[in-house]
Amino acid sequence: MNGKPQIYAELARQLDALLAGESDPVANTANMAALIYHGLPDLNWAGFYFARGGELVLGPFQGKPACVRIPWGAGVCGTAAARATAIVVPDVERFPGHIACDAASRSELVVPLVVAGRVVGVLDLDSPVLARFDDDDRDGCARLVLILLRHHRDWR
Ligand code: SME
Repeated sequence: MNGKPQIYAELARQLDALLAGESDPVANTANMAALIYHGLPDLNWAGFYFARGGELVLGPFQGKPACVRIPWGAGVCGTAAARATAIVVPDVERFPGHIACDAASRSELVVPLVVAGRVVGVLDLDSPVLARFDDDDRDGCARLVLILLRHHRDWR
């Protein structure tokens, strides 16, 4: 099987092709969530939350229904948004304030969407496997997010 950098390089190529010619952010984030969910092993959730009125609101995703609103600074998503930095959580039970949307989740990766210094949302990945995510996943997902944001320069 290919290593993680190869998998992310291939996902980046596919994402570029998926976004080409389409400017609707809902369509594009929906397809990106599906690409990631089906392209990476051992995930039980992949999707977006968007910054709306000082909190995070659920966006397009794949997986079980999830919490709709997350206060800024709360949970892994809200913390990554407030710090404007990616967070890898090897064991969600050891992350104070973790918000359990699906009891099966054991580890998590959140990458913020930063446009002109402002956090406009987050990409959130959950796994039923402990310590599923490492620096390669963080860097690979950050690269995918950059492709999305390059495509949507006028994000609101
Ligand atoms: N676990 C997240 C909440 C979102 S769900 O995992 C989809 C958190 O602690 O922010």
